[in-house]
Amino acid sequence: MTVHGLREEEWEMAKLNLNPLSDSVGAEILDFDITNFDAVKFKDIKIALDTYGGLLFRNQELSPESLVTFSKMFGDLDHAPQMENGKTAVDGFPEIYIVSNILDDNDKPIGSLGAGEAVWHTDMSYLPNPPDFSMLYAIEVPLEGGNTSLCGMAAAYDALPEKLRDSIKKRVIKHDGTYNSGGFLRKGIREDNDPMTCEGQPHPIVCAHPRNGRPVLYLGRRKNAYIVGLDREASETLLDTLWEFAALASNSYTHKWRVGDLLLWDNRATMHRRDPFDSSARRLMQRTQIKGAAPPASFQ
Ligand code: OGA
Ligand code: MN
Repeated sequence: MTVHGLREEEWEMAKLNLNPLSDSVGAEILDFDITNFDAVKFKDIKIALDTYGGLLFRNQELSPESLVTFSKMFGDLDHAPQMENGKTAVDGFPEIYIVSNILDDNDKPIGSLGAGEAVWHTDMSYLPNPPDFSMLYAIEVPLEGGNTSLCGMAAAYDALPEKLRDSIKKRVIKHDGTYNSGGFLRKGIREDNDPMTCEGQPHPIVCAHPRNGRPVLYLGRRKNAYIVGLDREASETLLDTLWEFAALASNSYTHKWRVGDLLLWDNRATMHRRDPFDSSARRLMQRTQIKGAAPPASFQ
């Protein structure tokens, strides 16, 4: 259906003040207060999210409560996973996960992921039913470093040569559950650096995006990944090739944070990574995750 010569979705989105952030992934929604908007605008936001895979809202002033309230509009929230410090959540807000290098009075990190690189990954793809969306809200940011990049996995799939596409049809990757994206061992998990034996969860390599049916690459993360049914060497070679095509600048957007930024991404349509930063600088982010409505489904 068209309205004023625009596809219905484009017409809906035209009501938002929106700037694409790159050719392949992400859009900034301008002049938008996530604590105060109407239902029609929320419909637009959902269409924009399905279209761009990631949305940026700047200049937000969010209490933990308002972050949780906005997050819940997208679905039920996950209880935050255990952090590296063994704590489970922010007091009173079990859905909020802290990503931070800041140390408490006992020199223990108040959050997760430290100040090092967080390698390319999709959140919690080692689960049978990974979260559909993640939101990251910036409370303190370093002057330099700590940028977060999104990679558009529909663009990544489109960039694959046809022969490579054929070689991954119907194949499945086992996604490692041993390490988080900062390279830290997950709580309660046995250390294992062998992709064939580590704990993990299989998912199709090429998934159909549940909202628009588009084929999307679903790689999870590189370390300890294994393509089921291949011998180890063949799996490593094919994975290396896929990652070469996926993690290209042309498929990505890199976000330089400002305090008050809220970045929301669809884990089915994107993966993300974080640059390292000076460990003496402070970075404090709050994250929520929206539960997966259904396990990733194979394309065709
Ligand atoms: C996350 C994550 C990266 C960052 O919270 O899931 O990967 O920039 N964070 O802190
Ligand atoms: Mn992440």
